[in-house]
Amino acid sequence: MTSEFEIKKQICDIGKRIYNRGMVAANDGNISVKLSDNEFLCTPTGVSKGFMTPEYICKVDRDGNVIQANGNFKPSSEIKMHMRVYQQRPDVNSVVHAHPIYATSFAIAGIPLTQPIMPEAVIALGCVPIAEYGTPSTMEIPDAVEKYLQYYDAVLLANHGALAYSDSLLAAYHKMESLEFYAELLFKAKQLGGPKELSPSQVERLYEIRRQFGMTGKHPADLCPNAKNGKSSCHSCGGNCGGHKAATIGNADADLVASITKRVMEQLGK
Ligand code: 13P
Repeated sequence: MTSEFEIKKQICDIGKRIYNRGMVAANDGNISVKLSDNEFLCTPTGVSKGFMTPEYICKVDRDGNVIQANGNFKPSSEIKMHMRVYQQRPDVNSVVHAHPIYATSFAIAGIPLTQPIMPEAVIALGCVPIAEYGTPSTMEIPDAVEKYLQYYDAVLLANHGALAYSDSLLAAYHKMESLEFYAELLFKAKQLGGPKELSPSQVERLYEIRRQFGMTGKHPADLCPNAKNGKSSCHSCGGNCGGHKAATIGNADADLVASITKRVMEQLGK
């Protein structure tokens, strides 16, 4: 079993990666790892996550109360957001929050990542919704992300950044990296005249591959109400999978709704 000290070192390594890759500026971002149902390691508030050593790392209980912290270090101001993910997703063992430039730009522009443009992003993430804006460090952010947690492994935070979580620290970091790569490709393809999207049947074949591989985590491939009804996942609901807008559509064919929406947007020049 990996020792607690080893996990603290791994958190510092991931902190360096997110800092060195420009996914956070200055003291931004936070990382946590679940040790047991009532013990979690997390980064301290207000320090650069690119320059941490193991003694910086704090330990908290399931409510975010301090169990152990050295010197003046205090747990991340966003610990409540991390705890909400662990509460709602028992399969999650690590949470990473960052402000990657492209993903955060989409979160600021209010554009969810719903265009299926490359196989890896479709398989790893499906689509990525935007949780409503909340004031950092308050319960507004956990409350805003909660409704997306059962359907996605990555969420944009409006006007703020991105949140990714998975069954290991490395996998949570990789989700963040995939999310940023997808956002950067989408941004650049838009500058080149707009991406040529994969077709619904190409998306469905990728979703089928994901199912066959038995990939862990939550993903619209398995959870989209269309997929549950034996139809293809629309990959264009913008975060309404699982009962938000999709529920109000009822049994309407989401493929049809998606294609009409697309045509209207084209006519509007968007
Ligand atoms: P902390 O340093 O308190 O973790 O906060 C950083 C941050 O990015 C808040 O959104």
